[in-house]
Amino acid sequence: MQKYICVKDLENAALELLPKATRDYYKSGATEEQTLAENSRAFRRLRIRPKCLVNVECADMRTKVLGNEVCLPVGISPSAMQRMAHPEGEVANVKAAEAEGTVYILSTIATSSIEEVARAAPKAIKWFQLYIYNDREVTKNLVSRAEQAGYKALVLTVDTPLFGIRRADIRNKFTLPPHLKLANFDGDLSTKIQSTKGGSGLNEYVNGLFDKSLTWDEIKWLKSITRMPIIAKGILRSDDAVKAIEAGCSAILVSNHGARQLDGVPATIEALPEIVEAVKEYNTEVYLDGGVTTGTDVYKALALGARMVFVGRPALWGLTVGGQSGVQRMLNIFSTELEYTLQIAGTPTIADITRDMVCHENFYCKL
Ligand code: LAC
Repeated sequence: MQKYICVKDLENAALELLPKATRDYYKSGATEEQTLAENSRAFRRLRIRPKCLVNVECADMRTKVLGNEVCLPVGISPSAMQRMAHPEGEVANVKAAEAEGTVYILSTIATSSIEEVARAAPKAIKWFQLYIYNDREVTKNLVSRAEQAGYKALVLTVDTPLFGIRRADIRNKFTLPPHLKLANFDGDLSTKIQSTKGGSGLNEYVNGLFDKSLTWDEIKWLKSITRMPIIAKGILRSDDAVKAIEAGCSAILVSNHGARQLDGVPATIEALPEIVEAVKEYNTEVYLDGGVTTGTDVYKALALGARMVFVGRPALWGLTVGGQSGVQRMLNIFSTELEYTLQIAGTPTIADITRDMVCHENFYCKL
């Protein structure tokens, strides 16, 4: 794995290896993919302002999320159907997170079950991503199984009354490969990702099953059936962040769903500052995913107030290239790059990364 020296190397190798329909599914954004490009471009518009002659002998990347210590402020975001990338899918991914001491978020739409993933990595900090199904018994079953299996938080996706338009999936008539199943379900619900109407099978699946009438009131119901803290994933506005907290959520994950929902929404790093500002008085942790591919991206997000960042596609690229070792390689790349950044920027610990360490490029346009 040592020959991959950056996340881009893993991505290039993975894109060569994956079958077309899977590759397109993982890499696509919504419609014109403008937000997809902006997610990473927006990081490039930020500058790090390093401090010189600081003693950086004891660089330390550890931090705490929802009370649990992690070795690295980079966790793994939920992404669906990971056995399309590698035969061990979610199981390899969670083992990598366990080995590197970080958080793994399992998708509802996974090809390994809640229990299988928990058994594979009993010591990993696992969170469960939840979609609320029309059938509340189905939803309740997922939540209680996750709690029972030791998952530490529920990551409620709040940006998905339906899935966005991903053109490649429509062209490919995306269908779950027949040897795989959605392992958290039985019967029809486990195999239903099939294109029967000439479009994306995934969109067909969701249209029939997800509850489009959901509002913030539903958090009350969710809280009545679980003791796990709830993290609202998909927030892009400060008023929504406040609504989430007032409804009872414990943390906010600033996300645009990998730019897969609505094209034209902001890059997540652009949306982060207003949300951090809005929730300051509540003392709520804020996380971010979307477009993070280097250690300096992680650093910039932390400087702008994220407690931790998450990566989705980079884990899929690592998984494709080398299963568990590939994902560990991906995390090691982030770890090395972040450690360099901490030291060269003169901020040896996570707590040292203050807001003034990063500014927008416009700061320098004074001529
Ligand atoms: C997606 C869903 C499954 O973006 O989260 O495809």
